[in-house]
Amino acid sequence: MAVERESVDTSEAEIAVHWGEENYVYPSAEFIAQANMTDPSVFDRFSLENFPNCFKEYADLLSWYEYWQTTLDTSDAPCWKWFVGGKINASYNCIDRHLAKNRNKTAIHFAPEPVGEKYEHITYQELYVRVNEFAALLRDFAGLKKGDRVTLHMPMVPELPITMLACARLGVIHSQVFGGFSGKACADRIVDSQSRVLITMDAYWRSGHLIDHKHGADIACDLAGKDGQKVDKVLIWQRYPGKASSPTAMVKGRDYFVNEELNKYYGARIEPERMSAEAPLFLMYTSGTTGKPKGCQHSTGGYLAYVTGTSKYVQDIHPEDVYWCMADIGWITGHSYIVYGPLALCASTVIFEGVPTFPDAGRAWKIAQDLNVNIFHTAPTTIRALRKIGPDEPAKYKFKFKHMTTVGEPIEPEVWRWYHEVVGKGTAAIVDTWWQTETGGFLCSTLPAIKPMKAGSTGPGVPGIHPIIFDENAKEIPRGAGKAGNICIQNPWPGAFQTIWGDRDRFVRTYYERYCKNPKSKDWRDWPYLTGDAAVEAPDGYYRILGRIDDVINVSGHRLGTKEIESAAMTVAEVAEAAVVPVKHDVKGIEPDLYIALKPGFKASEALEKKISDAVCSEIGKIAKPRRVWLVKDMPKTRSGKIMRRVLASISNKKDVGDVTTLANPEIVEDIRKMSK
Ligand code: WT7
Repeated sequence: MAVERESVDTSEAEIAVHWGEENYVYPSAEFIAQANMTDPSVFDRFSLENFPNCFKEYADLLSWYEYWQTTLDTSDAPCWKWFVGGKINASYNCIDRHLAKNRNKTAIHFAPEPVGEKYEHITYQELYVRVNEFAALLRDFAGLKKGDRVTLHMPMVPELPITMLACARLGVIHSQVFGGFSGKACADRIVDSQSRVLITMDAYWRSGHLIDHKHGADIACDLAGKDGQKVDKVLIWQRYPGKASSPTAMVKGRDYFVNEELNKYYGARIEPERMSAEAPLFLMYTSGTTGKPKGCQHSTGGYLAYVTGTSKYVQDIHPEDVYWCMADIGWITGHSYIVYGPLALCASTVIFEGVPTFPDAGRAWKIAQDLNVNIFHTAPTTIRALRKIGPDEPAKYKFKFKHMTTVGEPIEPEVWRWYHEVVGKGTAAIVDTWWQTETGGFLCSTLPAIKPMKAGSTGPGVPGIHPIIFDENAKEIPRGAGKAGNICIQNPWPGAFQTIWGDRDRFVRTYYERYCKNPKSKDWRDWPYLTGDAAVEAPDGYYRILGRIDDVINVSGHRLGTKEIESAAMTVAEVAEAAVVPVKHDVKGIEPDLYIALKPGFKASEALEKKISDAVCSEIGKIAKPRRVWLVKDMPKTRSGKIMRRVLASISNKKDVGDVTTLANPEIVEDIRKMSK
């Protein structure tokens, strides 16, 4: 940990917005009357005294082939094993078990981006057929079997959950890479997970453009190959079956169109694999404090139980609900709360291909009206964008949400109020859910019918999650003290990731070493989980999340490692040094600003700024695009030569830089400040 932390000189928490405690807002009687969880004693049932057996309640929401014997096995601490001895299949739980009563019900509503294209309503029966046929193809044509990893690089189309569920049916571990990530980012994940099959789509719509996505697959295979991981099959779904939508050529003997091959598997039915509860279900890569993304390994039984339980009680999903989470399935939010949770509960889940601001600011509300969506889930960055461009749009459409979620970053109270009053039409219950890729499901949130809402606060731990705030010296900050510190979780929970794929040491070092009471202990009480966020707890037990304590930037609700961005910039030959800092942005929340010192002999130019910015986009993806690239003469440095990112962050955020007289080169600070004026 010490080594990983060395370079940290600014944290998001330092520049996080600070606001006071807001007043309570209460859910309506109408909401409470229909809610899944209205019994406040749930918190006693899920108290630490009843841990870990309390989680039986979540496991019992699932159908098991063989019931488990041990709730929590701690013998390999801190790699916890849940529901040991149990046998289960996630695909069976999300599809097959619903067929008897609900085969004709819509499982997935697909909203294509082009307004002229019709919605697609996929019933549970159709989902069953399509998942089975594709599973047969994966097994018999691609040669995939239980335990193999397969990389997916897919856009927001129904073929994505179909692919995930087909993998789950076979016990194949899927690793979906966010469709907006570059071919290079995809290659890194192929190599790390040792995938020899890549599943992608030729093209998809975004903001009115049919984007050539197949191109990224070629880059990914090429770069993965150079890095020692050969991809021998690329399975390509066609956005329009039978029609070429991408100009990129097919590679003979490697690339296959799924819809052509699928014909051979017409009518195939595949018996779901009976997986151990602790068998990995999927990998989800996330940014950490070092350059290399971490493959968070999620389990089958524990994960599915946790996302099903939290979908039912925190999201208040009932089987008759039309639930729309406007996240991307390429992030953990989409895995847990578009695919696995809602489908395990037999709800109808909405998948939207495009952006909610295209062709106009009413798009999201039109979809909500058309599909009669009654539960809505999105991130503050999207709420800010929709509020900015169309503050009065929601009122023009006939939809009524009973429940809404926010996720991914803190939400400003003014933005929360717009969400509540204008989008929620003053009646929807809101939950602000705080969690992470690693945690599989929610950590903190109010229970919508039991606890009042408080703008800007995520709320208390959800049932069975017991947060604790430590100071720098591992001393517990007294509960409700209103003092900031490092928020940790005292106990394990079934949704937590099992390890970092292939790197257990890094897993222990990053998440457990800091506050571990005894590294030899097999007792979970000695292993608080370090979330990496700073937080304060108010006297009422509600937490406010202040931001990351490590050098990770949260852009539009997603973590980007500053080192990843910096190393991307360093691929440009002229660059000598790079430093990324977070800048406050109205809509995105935070944006990266990139400071660059050039090698001697190179001159600053706009062309060079663009070249560096483009390098970041092609290495990582557009999501990481810097707000500005500043070509500076030199970086502000300490006498020991460390770049002072905190000083740069102050300049970018137009804040006082403080005392810089102890720097090795204090004069440079004024130079840089003048540039940014
Ligand atoms: C980081 C996790 C959880 C799925 C999406 C992001 C920040 C997340 C909240 C919230 C304040 C939040 C934290 C966390 N965060 N939700 N409701 N309020 N901050 O997953 O990319 O793994 O990022 O996002 O800093 O550690 P992720």
